Amino acid sequence: MKIAILGLGAVGKGVTEMVASKDLGISITGIADSKSGCIDSSGLNTKSILVKKQKKGFCGDKALSAEDVIKKADYDVLVEVTPTNATTGEPGLSYIRQALKRKKHVVTSNKGPLALAYKELQTLAKKNGVALRFEATVGGAIPIFHTLEHGLAGNEILAIFGVLNGTCNYILTRMADEGLTYEQALLEAREMGYAEADPTYDVQGIDAAIKLVILANTIWGDGVKLDDVNRTGIDLLTPDALKLAEEEDCTIRLIAEAIPKKKLLRVAPRIIEKSHPLVVEGTLNAITIETDMAKEITLIGKGAGSIETASAIIGDLLYIRDRYVERA
Ligand code: HSE
Repeated sequence: MKIAILGLGAVGKGVTEMVASKDLGISITGIADSKSGCIDSSGLNTKSILVKKQKKGFCGDKALSAEDVIKKADYDVLVEVTPTNATTGEPGLSYIRQALKRKKHVVTSNKGPLALAYKELQTLAKKNGVALRFEATVGGAIPIFHTLEHGLAGNEILAIFGVLNGTCNYILTRMADEGLTYEQALLEAREMGYAEADPTYDVQGIDAAIKLVILANTIWGDGVKLDDVNRTGIDLLTPDALKLAEEEDCTIRLIAEAIPKKKLLRVAPRIIEKSHPLVVEGTLNAITIETDMAKEITLIGKGAGSIETASAIIGDLLYIRDRYVERA
């Protein structure tokens, strides 16, 4: 199976490295970052591309754009991992549309296009007989969509509660455990590649709210939008608030909740007991799914990170390979 990758930030780099180092039967025939692109239908030399990106800040030929890679490269699946824009969804939204129209499968970690145009993109994929998979958009390495689609098939999903932003969870953990200030902890999260290109998405709860919208639309098909989420971030939280919670054997976590029966869609910092299953540490995410048959299930895993996110993308790639490409 041949893939083209758009975006060579933390996620794109992780996918490139993992595909190159594991024997998955996948070759990379196109790569583009925001400044350049490279195409080779017999498979790119990913090692030299990553070295060039590291040294020069761009990966390929400046005469080639992401659009050129979408239109001209020879691939089965487009891996779209450019940064999220929650307002326009661009440039990822246009990239995904173009690839689907070319009858190419798409795997994305880009939350903006999914939160803004989930229905439109799924309809376009269906019309063109291809798959659009997005496991990496929510919960990092946690296989939440595979679980909902397969493991919990036939269940009615009643509610979802989750710690959906690794950066906020990392900041809250570091502030509580090490006494770091909010600014110090955020700087660490950015340096480690957990935060969004624009970290206000993380700390103002926008990233968690986008993920909640994607979950709600996938599960309930409600057509909810980011503005429907009642949202408060952690950016105004003080170390004193954490200390007060600590005195009650509690802590603070940024919790996302969706309960359709109560028409509730909310992201907010909540004081919760330390023994609660959603109290996870560092960049971990936790998602509790309440269903009619299985009752309560909580999934915990790394919510951010280059290789962790690559795990979700590769899961989607192999899903497509087994169901679509090998049959073709
Ligand atoms: N910035 C995001 C987070 C990355 O911290 O959770 C994963 O979506």
